[in-house]
Formats: sequence, structure tokens, C-alpha cells
Amino acid sequence: MDKRIAICPGSFDPITIGHIDIIKRAAAMFDKIIIVVMKNINKTGSFSPEERKEFIVKSVADIPNVEVDIYGGLLADYAAQKNACAIIKGLRAMSDFEYEFQMALTNKKLNPNVETIFLTTSTENMYLSSSMVKQIASMGGDISDFVPPVILDEITTRLKKD
Ligand code: PNS
Repeated sequence: MDKRIAICPGSFDPITIGHIDIIKRAAAMFDKIIIVVMKNINKTGSFSPEERKEFIVKSVADIPNVEVDIYGGLLADYAAQKNACAIIKGLRAMSDFEYEFQMALTNKKLNPNVETIFLTTSTENMYLSSSMVKQIASMGGDISDFVPPVILDEITTRLKKD
């Protein structure tokens, strides 16, 4: 039987423990997960796609069925290329829903072979976002509860304003 592949797409600028929670839960449901760093046209990045990928690779080293990639095109095309049956997205609150719903419907139109599956975030991560992490770190705050320990020092140093 074909392996069941799911894509976890995102900006991951940078990856947080909220992302890790969703990735781990997805990895338990599929044969293979491909985490892909993509471009969100509504966001300007703090880290390059290569840096974000590096942070993710370090953070998911203990999950065996996970790969990490970068892609500059459409998610629907990427899912087709990788023969993925699902796109996994985390939902934090109703405020995420409208935009995510629109993306899911658009991706379904572009690639009818892929389903978008929403995983509800764990309650402790409901408030967490990469932009919050960046704001806190840039003002000298402690982000140790928000990013994977293995990348904490690197992220803290990189985001701290002189
Ligand atoms: O972590 P984010 O910023 O919520 O992720 C959004 C992302 C990067 C998955 C989305 O912007 C995306 O899919 N970008 C790739 C380009 C694309 O396919 N756009 C059309 C989406 S309907």
C-alpha cells in the first residue's frame, strides 16, 4: 500500500512549541510528514527560509517519520508533487478559522486529491504565535516556554535588539 503522506506547511518564522505539538500529533497519524517552509504573502519574515528550515530540522530530530523542506510555489502544487493525501493545519481560535477555511477551499479547488485536516491546538498553546515570540525576544523577554529548547539560545540571540 502507498505510504500516507501529509504536509505540514507554514511560515515557521520561527517554529514554536505550538507547531511542534501539531507536528507530533500529525506524525502519529500518517506514515510520513513533510514540514515545508513556505511564503505567506501577508507576512514579512525575520529569518531566511534556510534559517527557518535549520531551526525546524534541529527541533524535530527526535521524530522519525518527518522530513523538512522549503518551497516557493503553491501549496496545492507541492502536495501533488509529493503525492500527499493531506495538508495539516493547526487551529488556535475562531480568529484563525475564516482565513484557514478560505485557504482550505482554494487548495481543494487547485488540487482535489488533497484534504485539509485541522487539528485544534492544545489549550496551553492557544495564545502562542511566532510573531509574539519575536516581539517578546526583541524586547529582552524570556521565550523559553515558547520555542523548542534546542534552538532557544540561537533564536534569543538572533532576535535580541542591540
Ligand atoms: O504559518 P502560516 O503563515 O499561517 O502559513 C501560511 C502558508 C505559508 C501555509 C500559506 O500562506 C501558503 O500556503 N503559502 C504558499 C502559497 C500558496 O499556496 N498560496 C495559496 C494558498 S490558498
